[in-house]
Amino acid sequence: MNIGLLTISDRGARGEYEDRSGPLMAEILQTRTPWQVSHRAVVPDEIDTIANTLIAWADEGVNLILTSGGTGFAPRDITPEATRRVIERETPGIVEALRAESLKITRHAMLSRAVAGIRGRTLIINMPGSPKAVRENLDVLLPILPHALELLIDAPHTESQHRTV
Ligand code: MTE
Repeated sequence: MNIGLLTISDRGARGEYEDRSGPLMAEILQTRTPWQVSHRAVVPDEIDTIANTLIAWADEGVNLILTSGGTGFAPRDITPEATRRVIERETPGIVEALRAESLKITRHAMLSRAVAGIRGRTLIINMPGSPKAVRENLDVLLPILPHALELLIDAPHTESQHRTV
């Protein structure tokens, strides 16, 4: 199982700000799952750059992509729009659960516009930008990920869904 971690931050991409959420996600995943972090990047809040990175990583066989940042209300927060552009099937239950659990911690969770969905065999999930929020969201997400990724990988190819027997 390969994981891609994409931090989305103008200041992070310019090197003005050290990305702390990407390394934190990597550390949590490496200690609490058997999976490999195969892809990592920090990109600016540019819709084409984000979408092209998600497409490239999905094409390269990454099973799970977690983005961090750009899901709020600031004018340049466009991670959900970039994600919607590339996913083929939305998985609303995941972001509903992340927001519901996060609301128990902070009312600010209702400011998250995060989306999640599937492109081919790749699950893409938006996470907030702050390390605290990333940790809280991963606590909710980690227990369901093995089953989610198994279903996605074992899913029959589209052709077989048309078989009558
Ligand atoms: N979710 C959790 N669990 N904990 C948090 O502290 N912060 C919220 C929200 N979700 C938060 C959270 C805040 S303040 C914002 S603005 C949105 O996530 C979007 O964050 P982003 O713009 O960094 O992506």
